[in-house]
Amino acid sequence: MEGIEAVAEAATVPAGAVQRPPAEVRHADELRLLAETDAGPRPPGWVLSLPAARRFIVGDPGAGISRKFVGDPSLIDRALVSLATSRGLMLVGEPGTAKSLLSELLAAAVSGVSTLTIQGGAATTEDQIKYSWNYALLVAEGPSTRSLVRAPLLRGMAEGRVVRFEEITRCPLEVQDSLLSPLSDRVLAVPELTGPDAMVFARDGFNVIATANTRDRGVNEMSAALKRRFNFETVFPIPDLQTELALVEAEAAALLRRSGVTAPPRRDVLEVLVTTFRELRTGRTARGDSMDRLTAVMSTAEAVSVAHAVGLRGWFLRGEPGTAADLVACLAGTAAKDSPEDLAKLRRYLEQQATWRGGEQWRALHAARHQLPG
Ligand SMILES: Nc1ncnc2c1ncn2[C@@H]1O[C@H](COP(=O)(O)OP(=O)(O)OP(=O)(O)O)[C@@H](O)[C@H]1O
Ligand SMILES: [Mg+2]
Repeated sequence: MEGIEAVAEAATVPAGAVQRPPAEVRHADELRLLAETDAGPRPPGWVLSLPAARRFIVGDPGAGISRKFVGDPSLIDRALVSLATSRGLMLVGEPGTAKSLLSELLAAAVSGVSTLTIQGGAATTEDQIKYSWNYALLVAEGPSTRSLVRAPLLRGMAEGRVVRFEEITRCPLEVQDSLLSPLSDRVLAVPELTGPDAMVFARDGFNVIATANTRDRGVNEMSAALKRRFNFETVFPIPDLQTELALVEAEAAALLRRSGVTAPPRRDVLEVLVTTFRELRTGRTARGDSMDRLTAVMSTAEAVSVAHAVGLRGWFLRGEPGTAADLVACLAGTAAKDSPEDLAKLRRYLEQQATWRGGEQWRALHAARHQLPG
């Protein structure tokens, strides 16, 4: 079968594998194992004890539990303790430092579900947070529990689960403030209903994890009243090169496997990639010289996605592992985006900083600098 027939056939094939299942599905075996062996006391409404939830996130190689978040384990302890109190947890930090990943892992470890998620943005409304109505049923029957459409906050309260609020500071202030009474009084009114259904009282296990990016609108743009109801934790970029390299290598390998690439880029190529990202992020080279930092976000998350792209380029264009030249081609779209200044800084970096280090991959990076557009 060829050409148009193959396309027609593909169009009727059911959707393929889910690109990124939620954490509780990706790591279902580990969650089950931890729950079975967990003898510690659990806070009311939690599926795991605090130590087991921590092992789920930071890993326990001896017990077959993978490390999912790279960072200070005491941050995880503080985050879990916050979630067991009556205050919400606010994860703040630079873009791409795994705030969303951490909030997903925490929700999966505490509640077994990470999908009660509100995505904050300029257009987020209270309906998307609390509840709305099925209008056909509303017109036919009036307001009732049948016509009520429960949004993540209402569901999390009623079911006693953790609700995630992504990028909360991108929401209008009055919308953010709809969290006030759920967080302080632990109750949500549904004034359209009567009797016991008019008040939804939060069950044990309910809490909120919010994330906020320090690059977009700052956390300053949050009312003092709401700030008081959260414990803040800052998530920092990974401090050392080797740890970041190991993470990028493992994550890129997993993404490439899913994309059908059997030969990932070599480690020395990834080392050049991660070093480049770190130097353009911090404005300091490995030998201590200062240089221009980019205004574009050069986070670990971006490094992982560029490593994925480098592997895809090499494999699908030439049938070989991605090289330093592929890296140059992929960097333009990530590092320079739409900023001519960033592109110029990147070009300067490839001209000046790739030469003094020696090593085959740095030489290849330097040699490929002409592949930058413009
Ligand atoms: N410390 C870390 N531990 C594990 N993975 C990390 C870490 N830092 C970055 N990553 C990588 O980055 C990805 C997570 O990025 P995520 O979207 O969670 O970041 P974010 O802080 O929410 O970013 P944004 O502010 O843009 O929303 C992970 O899937 C992983 O590949
Ligand atoms: Mg995020």
